[in-house]
Parts: sequence; C-alpha cells; structure tokens
Amino acid sequence: MDGKRKRKNKTDGPKRHIRENKENKINRTNKENKPSKENKSSKENRTNRENRENRVNEVNKEMGPMHAKQVWKPGTLVAPVPAVMVSCADKAGNSNIITIAWAGIVCSEPATVYISVMPRRFSHHMIEETGEYVINLTTKELSKATDYCGVVTGAKVDKWKACGLTRAKASTVSCPLIAEAPVNIECRVINKLALGSHDMFIAKVTAVDVDERYIDKNGRLELDRAGLIAYAHGEYFELGRKLGHFGYSVRKKA
Ligand SMILES: Cc1cc2nc3c(=O)[nH]c(=O)nc-3n(C[C@H](O)[C@H](O)[C@H](O)COP(=O)(O)O)c2cc1C
Repeated sequence: MDGKRKRKNKTDGPKRHIRENKENKINRTNKENKPSKENKSSKENRTNRENRENRVNEVNKEMGPMHAKQVWKPGTLVAPVPAVMVSCADKAGNSNIITIAWAGIVCSEPATVYISVMPRRFSHHMIEETGEYVINLTTKELSKATDYCGVVTGAKVDKWKACGLTRAKASTVSCPLIAEAPVNIECRVINKLALGSHDMFIAKVTAVDVDERYIDKNGRLELDRAGLIAYAHGEYFELGRKLGHFGYSVRKKA
C-alpha cells in the first residue's frame, strides 16, 4: 500500500502540476478572449473616435498631396512685418532709437500694441525704466536710418545725430518722437512678458501723431502716399501697388 502510494506520488506529482498549469493557461486565455461588457459611454466614445477618424480621412483625401514643400524646423517666418523705429528714453532724459521688426497690434479697443526687445539691447533698460516708448512708422526716405538704428548701438553712438533725425516732443509720454516719421504712436507699457530671447512690452496707445501732409481736406489719412516700408525675410521693401481695400472681395460693383 505504502509502496503503491509512493509510486503514485512519484508519477502523479509532476504530471498533476503540468495538467494544472495547462488548465490555468486555458482559463486565462478564455478570460482574455471573452468580450468585456462595453458600457454606454465607452461605446459612445468609440463611435465618436471612429467618426473623427473618418472625418480626418475624408479631409485628408480632399486636401490632396503637398506640393514639393520642405518641412523646416520651427522659425519666425512671418512676412511681411513692419520695421519700425522705436524711440525711448531713460529717466534722466537720455534718448535712443532702436529698430524693431517684432512689433504689432494686439487689441483695437483699447488700442494696444507690442514690441519685443532682447534684454541685452541698450534700449531695453530705458523702456523698462520709464515704461514708455514711441513707435515711429518708417518710409522709403527713412529706410537707411531704419537699418542703421538696427545695427548700431545707442550705448556707443548718438543715433539721432548720426542719422540726422529730429527729436520732437510727444504729447503724452516723456520720450521724444522722430519728427521725420509720418506717424508716431505714443505708448505706455501695461505688461511685460518674458518669452525667451525677447521680452514683449505690451502697451496702451496714449496718442497718435499724424503728419498733416498726409491728411486730406476731409480729415482722412492717406497713408498710401507716405511711402511706407515693410520687412520680409531680412530685406526691406517699399509697399507696392494697391490691390483693393477692406471688404473689396465682397463689395457689389455699382
Ligand atoms: C530690420 C531689423 C529689425 C530688428 N528687430 C528687432 C526686434 O524686433 N527686437 C530686437 O530686440 N532687436 C531687433 N533688431 C536689432 C536691434 O535693432 C539692434 O540690435 C540695435 O542695434 C539695438 O540698438 P540699441 O543697442 O541702441 O538698443 C532689429 C534690427 C533690424 C535691422
């Protein structure tokens, strides 16, 4: 009896383990294959996802292939942009001019603009100190001065003198404006955003000074006569032929 039991144990032991392992594996596999009960919201999610994927496929089909476009690394290739001369001053009244291309409008009402300035620029501390600057629009006649004020530092050179530009008193800020510019936009800083390479000075427009030569008898500003310039991919351009006016694409012909 003992011998029999011993023999049985000897042979049945390892076999039983193999059998149990096999059964466990089958149970596990069955469990994995068994479809899980999908609740209502996950079913909806799946349908939404499928609809989205179908829509993306449809849109991709509509778009067609890309036309020999190279995909470049991220960069600031927005063009054209303005190249304005910004005048500024420190608290002691020393003033300077810096050329800025990273400039624009951020809100119409209240009139709000921005310039982005690298902290290492000499002008940066002036704008920070007084919280004021003037955006002076640039023209064909001012294009050389525009470039000069963008490559020479006011820490070493009096750019007003070097460019033969005239300081004129602004009406709402303490820093001077450039008399030769057709339009001067006086600004008071309301916020500074440190974005990385540049600090963005967001400012409220406190006054706009317009050269009377460009105002017609009805008080309308004819800015197209000022010979404004633009900056695109490292080059200056004079604005060209007028193509239309705001809303001309939908205006009915008389
Ligand atoms: C067309 C042009 C656009 C420029 N735009 C900017 C700009 O948006 N922000 C900036 O910090 N510097 C800009 N610069 C560089 C500064 O104008 C330049 O470093 C200048 O000499 C700084 O003057 P400052 O040292 O007297 O402040 C630009 C230069 C040029 C020529």
